[in-house]
Amino acid sequence: MSFDFSIRPRRLRENSVLREMIAENSLTVNDLIFPVFVSNEIRDRQEISSMPGIYRWSLPSLLKQIPEWIDLGIRAFAIFPCVEKEMKDETGSEILNSNALTYEAARKIKSNWAETLLIGDLALDPYTIHGHDGILDSGGQIANDPTVEILAKASVLAGNSGYDMVAPSDMMDGRVSIIRKHLDSANLLHTGILAYSAKFCSAYYGPFREAIGSTTQAPINKSTYQLNPANRNESIKELHLDLAEGADILMIKPAEPYLDVISYAKDNFNVPIAAYQVSGEYSRLVAAASCGWLDLDKCAQESILSIKRAGANLILSYFAERMARILF
Ligand code: PBG
Repeated sequence: MSFDFSIRPRRLRENSVLREMIAENSLTVNDLIFPVFVSNEIRDRQEISSMPGIYRWSLPSLLKQIPEWIDLGIRAFAIFPCVEKEMKDETGSEILNSNALTYEAARKIKSNWAETLLIGDLALDPYTIHGHDGILDSGGQIANDPTVEILAKASVLAGNSGYDMVAPSDMMDGRVSIIRKHLDSANLLHTGILAYSAKFCSAYYGPFREAIGSTTQAPINKSTYQLNPANRNESIKELHLDLAEGADILMIKPAEPYLDVISYAKDNFNVPIAAYQVSGEYSRLVAAASCGWLDLDKCAQESILSIKRAGANLILSYFAERMARILF
């Protein structure tokens, strides 16, 4: 066996300036969207035990915190409400209260910082006692169409309260088109839809459910609406449907375990692709780093860079603040 030593790829890796110049991807704080938890039940902020470094914020303390994030360059936020137990019910009716915390938060943030991008998560799970993203029919099954009607009405409340985009995270069939119709008839023509299109039924959502207080006693099973992690074709079908129904941005979630789907979406759709590096993806790195097994900053950066390289240019990440401090 002979090797042609005129071909030496390492030549391009010798000089650090050249290495940086030929980097095919790089992260900036403009790639990142920071998910933020807001709660009426605490005074200042409270660390989420399964997500060290991430907090539930009272609305007043959140309003005090936002300028610091903006100074770091973070200008895009996805807001998740933690809803008091007493306000939860079978149908998640609090989502249709125009004074609900999530709408109040948007009004306050937007009136102070109009230049931010605010994304309103649209799903029933923070509001239902059973923790599902849909309402249940008499047989205990998730009732698709009535759930979609509620989400569509809620999208109008979200748009009117100042959210720039609504992000349906429920995985009901047909919701993007009905939400678009409701937004348009309310003249919310510029309220966009960031669709959780390929959302997998993932065990990595565990810490998030603790964060918003939707953890139920029996483990919850969302496999009648979220995608089977084994199914790539089916996830592609969902991406096609959401685009056809009027989604402005398609999202894949979780992110790092599904880079193949992100990459497909990037290569095949002419719209921006988002990915959600979810709570469990965050917590696993933080946990390993706290044992001294991994370098947290480096692993977080590598993980987000992988998501970007695969093709996502909007990345929801709990590491947003940490990354902003590194990238600054
Ligand atoms: C539910 C929702 C979930 C997440 C965002 N919206 C969890 C779920 O489907 O149970 C997960 C986010 C994360 O894990 O960080 N509508």
